[in-house]
Amino acid sequence: MTQQHSRPQWWHHAVIYQIYPRSFMDASGDGIGDLNGVTQRLDYLANLGVDALWLSPFYRSPQADAGYDVADYRDVDPLFGTLEDFNAMLSGAHERGMRIIVDIVPNHTSSEHVWFQQALASPSGSQERARYIFREGRGENGEQPPNNWQSVFGGPAWTQVPGEREWYLHLFDTSQPDLDWHNPEVLEEFDNVLRFWLKRGVDGFRIDVAHGMIKAPGLPDWDGSQAMIEGGNPGPMWDQDEVHDIYRRWNRVLTEFGHDRMMVAEAWVHPPSKTARYVRFDEMQQAFNFDYLLTPWDADRLKDVIDTSLESYGAVGAPTTWVMSNHDSVRHASRLGLSRPGARPNGIDADSEQPDEALGLRRARALIMLTLALPGSAYLYQGEELGLPDHTTMPDHYRQDPTFHRTNGEQIGRDGCRVPLPWYADAPAFGFNTTGESWLPQPENYARYAADRQLENADSTLELYRRLLALRHEHGLGHGELVWQEGSRSDVLSLSNGAVTLVLNLGETPVALPEAEVAIQSVPEAVEEGQLAGNAAVWLTSR
Ligand code: GLC
Repeated sequence: MTQQHSRPQWWHHAVIYQIYPRSFMDASGDGIGDLNGVTQRLDYLANLGVDALWLSPFYRSPQADAGYDVADYRDVDPLFGTLEDFNAMLSGAHERGMRIIVDIVPNHTSSEHVWFQQALASPSGSQERARYIFREGRGENGEQPPNNWQSVFGGPAWTQVPGEREWYLHLFDTSQPDLDWHNPEVLEEFDNVLRFWLKRGVDGFRIDVAHGMIKAPGLPDWDGSQAMIEGGNPGPMWDQDEVHDIYRRWNRVLTEFGHDRMMVAEAWVHPPSKTARYVRFDEMQQAFNFDYLLTPWDADRLKDVIDTSLESYGAVGAPTTWVMSNHDSVRHASRLGLSRPGARPNGIDADSEQPDEALGLRRARALIMLTLALPGSAYLYQGEELGLPDHTTMPDHYRQDPTFHRTNGEQIGRDGCRVPLPWYADAPAFGFNTTGESWLPQPENYARYAADRQLENADSTLELYRRLLALRHEHGLGHGELVWQEGSRSDVLSLSNGAVTLVLNLGETPVALPEAEVAIQSVPEAVEEGQLAGNAAVWLTSR
């Protein structure tokens, strides 16, 4: 039996909220968010109106890559709480009608995982080493890495075992050794990791680096781009056909638990027709639509990516997802305030061009109106409902992203989008906890975005999100159908989905609107005398 797309399932139209546990809410007060913090904020999330929560990793980990370096896949790191805390969070979410998706990191383990420790303690050629990718170095004494691959985070993708000719592969940090997915033991272990969490009642999995687990035979040298995020990843370490066998196998594991569990692929491949291969009927159920995230503020390009996505995912019977931000990218409120709006810099620091904060926010509020008007499933990244920008002037000595350190600061990295959320404008650490501790510093302007300031304010970004989510639900837009409306101008997008018509003005000058009821507008002054202002959007309903 396979987990089919045919019957409309919850993931076909769900709005899924990403929680980055380190930075969401800190109940213990140690400066790092935790699972009890999530539980404390479940009412807030239910009130926002999202259907599911995806939590970035909270497993045992030395935190060399903020938890994407897992030392034990079956336990909660004490930083985040306990398995009992997880159970309480899960049942609290379920009681409020929200599903839970957890992150699975199968491409690599932490170097502190017991398997890797055993591998280092065992001789070359041993069963223990065969779970990873150990190879002899080149050169007379094996002093050169086995091939020329570079780590996504910068520097070589190989580390030599001290005093040996052997090296091990790590597409990311030295502390994240890649597993060998040709080894049946690895396959079996992960079947059981999935079963462990499915038994606990999780509704789905977000699969980390889903396009990276199988490497081309012989590990050939590669001189092309190594960047994981842009460029489509044609290299021998990405998007190999055999990777799909793994997802077919996992699809069968999911069906052991019924037909309402799902997987979402983090697969940075391009174009969407390639990404869609990860969501064929017997593989995963969703893939993040990173082409949408990467699209600049440009009407033609947005229209094109929307059409291509609906067509590509539709062709395999899978829902399209829409995503604007996550924990690996500068927040879209900041990107949209740059002189090349929507460009995706790898971090922003005090020496970079500073975004126009007001313009970025205005455009972000307009863009969510497009995103939530589209059929399919949408992903929101914690804080975007507050209109939150990145911390764009964080002093370097606070930076923790391995990308920053492995490139000697050449790549600024992802810390700016990972800053703890502001809950109360006038509290220590803006209410992230009661002690004022914070693992990354919060910029002063976060006071303006604090949830308590927005909850009481009808014109706030939070209220805009809440109302859009309610209207989307009421009109069934997630399972609706998109029809483009003839636009009068090349910088205006207009589409209808059932009873709702969206008009998004990406230009600077006002545009005339058709006669209709204004259901909701991106900013209070968006519609005046039948005209829609620049950098604004509106949902109209027929009178
Ligand atoms: C994914 C995660 C990212 C992590 C990387 C390595 O891209 O989203 O945060 O650093 O995988 O696990």
